[in-house]
Amino acid sequence: MTVAHYFETMEYGPAPEADGEARAWLKQHGAVFGHFIGGKSVAPHSGNHLTTIEPATGKALAKIAQGSSADVEVAVNAARTAQPLWVKLGDHGRARHLYALARMLQRHARLFAVLEAIDNGKPIRETRDLDVPLAARHFLYHAGWAQLQEREFADQVPIGVIGQIIPWNFPLLMLAWKIAPALAAGNTVVLKPAEFTSLTALLFAELAAEAGLPPGVLNVLTGDGATGALLVENPGVDKIAFTGSTEVGRLIRQATAGTGKSLTLELGGKSPFIVFDDADLDGAVEGVVDAIWFNQGQVCCAGSRLLLQEGIAETFRRRLIRRMETLRVGPPLDKAIDMGAVVAPVQLERIKALVETGVKEGAEKYQAPGALPAEGCFYPPTLLWNVHPSSTVAIEEIFGPVAVAMTFRTPDEAVMLANNTRYGLAASVWSETIGLALDIAPKLLAGVVWINATNLFDASVGFGGYRESGFGREGGREGMYEYLKPKAWSGRKARAKASQPPAPAVDSAGFGVPPIDRTAKLFVGGKQVRPDGNYSRAVLSPKGRHIGEAGEGNRKDIRNAVAAARSAEAWARATVHNRAQILYYLAENLSARGDEFARRIADMTGLSGAKARAEVNASMERLFSYGAWADKFEGTIHAPPLRGVALAMHEPIGVVGVACPDEAPLLGFASLVAPLIAMGNRVVVVPSEKHPLAATDFYQVLETSDVPAGVVNIVTGGRDDLVKVLAEHDDVDALWVFGSQEASASAERLSIGNLKRTLVDHGLQLDWYDKAACEGPILLRHAVQVKNIWIPYGD
Ligand code: NAI
Repeated sequence: MTVAHYFETMEYGPAPEADGEARAWLKQHGAVFGHFIGGKSVAPHSGNHLTTIEPATGKALAKIAQGSSADVEVAVNAARTAQPLWVKLGDHGRARHLYALARMLQRHARLFAVLEAIDNGKPIRETRDLDVPLAARHFLYHAGWAQLQEREFADQVPIGVIGQIIPWNFPLLMLAWKIAPALAAGNTVVLKPAEFTSLTALLFAELAAEAGLPPGVLNVLTGDGATGALLVENPGVDKIAFTGSTEVGRLIRQATAGTGKSLTLELGGKSPFIVFDDADLDGAVEGVVDAIWFNQGQVCCAGSRLLLQEGIAETFRRRLIRRMETLRVGPPLDKAIDMGAVVAPVQLERIKALVETGVKEGAEKYQAPGALPAEGCFYPPTLLWNVHPSSTVAIEEIFGPVAVAMTFRTPDEAVMLANNTRYGLAASVWSETIGLALDIAPKLLAGVVWINATNLFDASVGFGGYRESGFGREGGREGMYEYLKPKAWSGRKARAKASQPPAPAVDSAGFGVPPIDRTAKLFVGGKQVRPDGNYSRAVLSPKGRHIGEAGEGNRKDIRNAVAAARSAEAWARATVHNRAQILYYLAENLSARGDEFARRIADMTGLSGAKARAEVNASMERLFSYGAWADKFEGTIHAPPLRGVALAMHEPIGVVGVACPDEAPLLGFASLVAPLIAMGNRVVVVPSEKHPLAATDFYQVLETSDVPAGVVNIVTGGRDDLVKVLAEHDDVDALWVFGSQEASASAERLSIGNLKRTLVDHGLQLDWYDKAACEGPILLRHAVQVKNIWIPYGD
């Protein structure tokens, strides 16, 4: 017998974690739980309960309350009552409570870890080493933001009552991601955990109350999707923060449209795991284990699509299969297993069905050979090889321990395949050539990119998606902004309904010489073009004098404008110096024609010459200001607790539709367009419907200021109808609507196709001269999406 032989043949014995304390806690409650509202357990109004099972055994574990609308009302009221008192506690007071929650988690770390493993089925090794410590880190980190709030977020105020709906894959960690920033910012919370995994949330609420968290600050309302939907609809909720499936995310977007509720969505993913020829292959194989077999693959950012460069694909397959042979699936409480149970039978069936489909569609299947426990929801680590990019398993989120592999030849092909998905949550890039990895990272459409690593998380580093993976960030400074709103927007008044247009006054020139007719066209792809329908509308002064005609844009014009904006993609890569210069140049050229613009504004709006001139000056200054911001609104470098950094990059969102308000027709236009183009977006703008001629006169300013064709496209016409077209267009990535309440509502409701980021004013009017409300980071933050690129150091 050699030592090597022993290593080959030695079997693991069972190493179970004791579960006495967790079972005792369940018993203490008779395994029946109410909601946790206003600091205490509250029986469900309907008396209805759901049974939650233990995934590893399939046996019933506990009964949890099924929330009804009456329960939602009580929970929301409790949160509403507590909110002003919570704010009154002040920064330091709230910071101390958050700190106490972190310490409470650390004190009861083992109980939380065991209960989570029992309830969810995930290995104790993961709950003990990742879920619980990271949850505690979240509270500690956000205790810090609470402490610094007055100084660091002086221009912001809390949103109010936040409804938070979380999934079952990281029950305690998602709770922490959601409630820590919300509470730190001065909001109160009604949290609905997933129906499969509510127990750690109930334990948390109970122990938080014991740790002194005031009643009503955190309320836990249990139940299934129907309870979640009731929470979304409740008018007492000011914001919904949701993590879960893209389908439900869409439903929530629709349900909240036009209500004024703010929304963040953290949805699914199909994240690429890209291995280049020059990667450290053993490191990358270990990376796959973490990417797709961590938490049984039930991870929204799981690296589920392996993209392997052809030269190493075969070697990689052999090494990965060899590694799979050593993976052990078993009871979650066994400290020596790699994978536990899938959360529920329904999820297990879904995984099985998808894998079968993959095989039918041509994939070769490899599974880890180790035995599975006889009972419970277990599925082996699985690799589907030779998967076609159009195969179902390459497109659908499996949400199980299944990696699908395909190959590529060149870096460009890798980027194309990586981005060939409707999602955009995360990506992982493996190469020993840092230049290559850092060239690829910005090209990937994903909110997080890990270089030579995967599944790294920290409270200081924002997490969240691009495209259909949702919007908003959790963690970091940007995560705090999701739970705050600008102070300067607080006193906004609803816009008066548009008055009837004046009757056109007949203004015959008799036998005199008429003015030379100037009918404004549209501005698309750097050219003035006739509207597709060949219609135009009269633009009248407040007294009904006919002062010009503007093109009547339609669906086709918007489509052309979006196509032009799409093809001006190079603007996103233009240097910030270049973009700054162009904005200054726009200001300069506007200034040169100031008198002409002032006359136009005075004509259209009836303002005095001095006031119209003041609007031109303010518009010029605004353009200048964004010239200044273009190379100063930068990302940041995070120092998460690892040897390495995370680069938080400000990236443009893409093509943004913009609807401008009628008040301040030039200043409103400049205030919305300038921050977007400063950050590298391309825009399709619908100018003020009533006073469009300031924007159409601006064509010539654009033409003389080196703005590349397609960066700014302008379509005049009926604003509310054109907003609908923009909202439904899947090549538009974001939509800013400042105008009527109806346009705001339809922008939100119709944008669900590709889950656009929307910024709307709900018909509430801004003072465009007020810099605090309308200039700088307040809008720039909405003009970028943050991508975090993690770069660990060392071998
Ligand atoms: P889900 O999206 O249905 O559930 C997530 C949460 O939303 C749960 O708390 C649920 O009760 C609640 N919910 C369900 N319907 C709702 C509605 N109409 N209104 C408000 N809340 C509602 O996810 P589910 O069914 O648990 O899993 C299905 C698939 O979703 C998974 O296979 C996976 O692909 C994906 N998923 C993605 C997650 C992620 O982290 N991105 C997490 C969980 C699931």
